[in-house]
Amino acid sequence: MEFFDHPRLWHGADYNPEQWRQDPAVLEEDIRLMKQAGITIVSVGIFSWSDLEPTEGVCDFGWLDEVMDRLAAAGIRAALATPSAAPPPWMAVRYPEILRADERGLRRRYGVRQQHCLTSPLYREKTAAFNRRLAERYKDHPALALWHVSNEYGGECFCPRCQAEFRRWLKDRYGGIGELNAAWWGSFWSHRYSDFEEISAPSPVGENLVSGQNLDWKRFVSDCHIAFFDNEIAPLRELTPQIPVTANLMNTYPGIDYQKFARHMDIVSWDNYPTWHRGDNAVVAQQTAFIHDIYRGLRDGQPFLVMESTPSQVNWHGVNKLQRPGVLRLSALQGLAHGSDSMQYFQWRKGRGSHEKYHGAVVDHVGHPHTRVFREVSEVGAVLARMQSLAGTGKESPAALIYDWENEWAIRGMNGFNNERRTYQPVCERYHAPLWRAGISTICIGEEQDFTPYRLLVAPMLYMLKDGVAKRLAEYVAAGGNLVLTYMSGMTDSHDLCFRGGFPGEGLRQVCGVWAEETDALYEEDRQSVTFGGVSYPVRRSCDLLHAEGAQVLAAYDRDFYAGTPAVTCNRYGRGRAWYVGFDDDGAFTSAFMEELIRELDLPRPLPGPIPYGVSVQQRGERIFLLNFLDSPARLPLPAAYTDELTGGRVEGEAQLPPYGAMVLI
Ligand code: GAL
Repeated sequence: MEFFDHPRLWHGADYNPEQWRQDPAVLEEDIRLMKQAGITIVSVGIFSWSDLEPTEGVCDFGWLDEVMDRLAAAGIRAALATPSAAPPPWMAVRYPEILRADERGLRRRYGVRQQHCLTSPLYREKTAAFNRRLAERYKDHPALALWHVSNEYGGECFCPRCQAEFRRWLKDRYGGIGELNAAWWGSFWSHRYSDFEEISAPSPVGENLVSGQNLDWKRFVSDCHIAFFDNEIAPLRELTPQIPVTANLMNTYPGIDYQKFARHMDIVSWDNYPTWHRGDNAVVAQQTAFIHDIYRGLRDGQPFLVMESTPSQVNWHGVNKLQRPGVLRLSALQGLAHGSDSMQYFQWRKGRGSHEKYHGAVVDHVGHPHTRVFREVSEVGAVLARMQSLAGTGKESPAALIYDWENEWAIRGMNGFNNERRTYQPVCERYHAPLWRAGISTICIGEEQDFTPYRLLVAPMLYMLKDGVAKRLAEYVAAGGNLVLTYMSGMTDSHDLCFRGGFPGEGLRQVCGVWAEETDALYEEDRQSVTFGGVSYPVRRSCDLLHAEGAQVLAAYDRDFYAGTPAVTCNRYGRGRAWYVGFDDDGAFTSAFMEELIRELDLPRPLPGPIPYGVSVQQRGERIFLLNFLDSPARLPLPAAYTDELTGGRVEGEAQLPPYGAMVLI
């Protein structure tokens, strides 16, 4: 595949020339400016269905032909989109069955976008047929580089057809109603079904408290999106097998199991909109790094794309702050440092009307390139051009962190302990942060991915264990791995049915050498602490009450009726070790604990010296990225002499980073 055989760092933008057809000079000027800004790829056709098929069966591809031809002539490639994210009005009005129904059953009217039913055979037929036309028309077009399938798949539909499909899906999963009743613990509150036909989707006016059912609904909706995607890409695969396929994803959007979805694409891409300058930029950078590490993990370390980002500000926050000068370049470099092969924007040119006219874009309403944003974008273009040899390269990760989509669903859906303050992602971020701050590359993976390549495996709140996961974790530790588990681990199976025989279940009790007998939930005003390494750290929200069953106790609770009982343990199991942290905190303990672990395991770091707060040090291949996310200067000691790829200058002894400054050392 050209895209992969000759990898490139892409510099791109969403381009919506259909909004400018009344003014042909705009297209010409856009192409000229794209060249000037070093743009190498644009996503076209994302929301173009009503311009491509203005009335049923009457198509107008002329304008898109011209756009594709002009792009090709200018050496710019196209990520050609399929238009399914926004059906044309005529379709919704003529075939209302394609529209979604909400959870109370109310059918939507035409409007906004992503309004289509996920199982509508008619909509699937229409999208596949239209995609076939696109592929037939552009399959040999020199501009075509990538299929950008739809836009940000998401949402759910509760129409009668989707409900019937849900029942069919359940029949496939369970075979018989008895198996379903067992999985959903049906005799609770008289919920024993006698027939699949009695089952509905979860609803605020119906059933919504059966956690096994809620999980299955989420799995079903996720599978519907994936089936919709497979249906969309079938003609693309058939007619353009050489063109890779992606869909632009959204952070850790919980509506689709991205760890499953990613397997259906050739390359994953995501839309990256960090809230720079809201609070501490170092925290925003850390949170963004976590998401990049998830995207690198989705396809086992393969490079990914940043499909969208804003070149200046968004329009959908309460306060839409401008990115300060230099932050755009930092953002781009951060993506590259974590494994991205692109920096792309939403969008190329601001539209004059409707909802997004004040959203940041490369070309502003003023229309010329003499703007701060255009200059910064051009600078990113130059950086990407200089760093082409980075494209397609991998990134070694000595550490992995398990962030699992289904586990997130299960944690969100269960009732008990600290319902008010139980969150999964922030806890994962808290364990990821010290690794990020130390410059240790960490890949985020799901429960079903391979654990064996990593020296350290951190699995915060591994509440729901899918089949076989506990066994694989035990094997990992026995073979010499280092595993960190936390409170609320190993509690249920994939139906959210509790394990019997003591938590953490499924043999993890032996691996960790602890039994978590009870879990306490703390009010905000409650005080609890642990003493670790001679320092007292506050404990928050949740505490497992542990018995050491062979594990060494590293810290104990300081207060309450469980004062003096184990809070942090370490157990030797086979050739490896398993740590168990019994509680949640606000980060002080997590940092101290993880820093100690990093020291003890001597995890490889790109630079040996201390890293100032707010600076990220990440290695990808031979390059070491130094990124200062704060608006104050920073200095780092260097062990050797390097060349800064951004300037070509020599750096020795110390790296001096200006506010929002960056270096790429080789
Ligand atoms: C994305 C979306 C784009 C645009 C952008 C604005 O979520 O894919 O089409 O709306 O947000 O920030």
